[in-house]
Amino acid sequence: MKRLNKMREIRPKVYWVGAIDWDRRLFDALIPLPDGTSYNSYLIKGSEKTALIDTVDPTMKAVLINHLNELKVKSIDYVIANHAEKDHSGTIPQVLEKYPEAKVVCTPKCKDMLIDLMMIAEERFITVDDRETISLGDRTLEFIHAPWVHWPETMLTYLREDRILFPCDFFGSHLATTDLYVTDEGQVYEAAKRYYAEIMMPFRTTIQKNLEKIRGYEISLIAPSHGPMHDKLEFIVKAYNSWVSDKPKNIAVLPYTSMHGSTRKMVEHLVGALAQRGVRVQQFDLAVTDIGKLAMALVDAATVVIGTPTVLAGPHPNAAYAAFLANALRPKLRFVSIIGSYGWGGKTVEQLAAMIPNLKVEVLEPVLCKGLPREADFKALDKLADTIAQKHKEQGFA
Ligand code: FEO
Repeated sequence: MKRLNKMREIRPKVYWVGAIDWDRRLFDALIPLPDGTSYNSYLIKGSEKTALIDTVDPTMKAVLINHLNELKVKSIDYVIANHAEKDHSGTIPQVLEKYPEAKVVCTPKCKDMLIDLMMIAEERFITVDDRETISLGDRTLEFIHAPWVHWPETMLTYLREDRILFPCDFFGSHLATTDLYVTDEGQVYEAAKRYYAEIMMPFRTTIQKNLEKIRGYEISLIAPSHGPMHDKLEFIVKAYNSWVSDKPKNIAVLPYTSMHGSTRKMVEHLVGALAQRGVRVQQFDLAVTDIGKLAMALVDAATVVIGTPTVLAGPHPNAAYAAFLANALRPKLRFVSIIGSYGWGGKTVEQLAAMIPNLKVEVLEPVLCKGLPREADFKALDKLADTIAQKHKEQGFA
């Protein structure tokens, strides 16, 4: 039995009615959640109408229904679906069943998705245009279309009179906490950056436009649908501005895997050589690393050097996975190289280079060695470190 968290009033007649998932450790069967997560749902009781903003993951539907019972909610007029992904939409069917008069309010694209994903009846929807409003009597909801935070159908909801922005995934963090508001900025920065890296980074340029779009709104509180709310806006907006900026930092990331230690020797040498030249390095052993940490490192990095042995004439599957991930997440990298050891030959460099077509990068001369690295191989690694440090300086990252 899941814990039934308590609902909480955040403004007069505006309630947090979400669920805290302390124990979830994986999202989308892919993304590690070391700190759990929350599915924040919000209830607004206007003088005439009541609206529910987003619901909760289907595994926690009892928590949301319990909150609504606790608040003695007799009717819900609007269920605002900012986003169709099931961690927010998964309890819409139960809410619609409990409140037969309720309509789902969403973008036209979101309507199609909710019909596909949840088989919600067509007549239960009201679709809204960008900047359209709905009155709850003494309160007004404005809907701001904001595609790709996180899917193409996403929108944000702005409660005008209270100046609260409900952006769903945008500005969210996978963090289970009893804090309604951000109290530990260090902890939330880490969780929000992880969230950005894994969920938002592929849509970086669109997010720049969405940030621009909300700049025209007076906002006193950002109430996302994951993690704590932001009552000090500057903290999260400044972080996002930095993450979505076009300019990377003087950082090299070295994801690697090593079967018998030769590639590892090369990685360790290169890490030392880069550090000596003033380049900050983050090294990840792909056999054990948390891929969320690797994704976070990619947010700011200017260079990635993949370390891999040659296995069956190509890169080790761990290295192929890292290349696939980097290609999919589309970080603002500028340079890529490959280092590693082989036994008798293969096409490791060609195969890895072909796996990153989305990255607009310059490929720096790889360093491959046969068996254990020797003096000449270490010299080649020093030369690679020189090149990386020089390129970072030339581009103004260092
Ligand atoms: Fe939290 Fe994209 O769902």
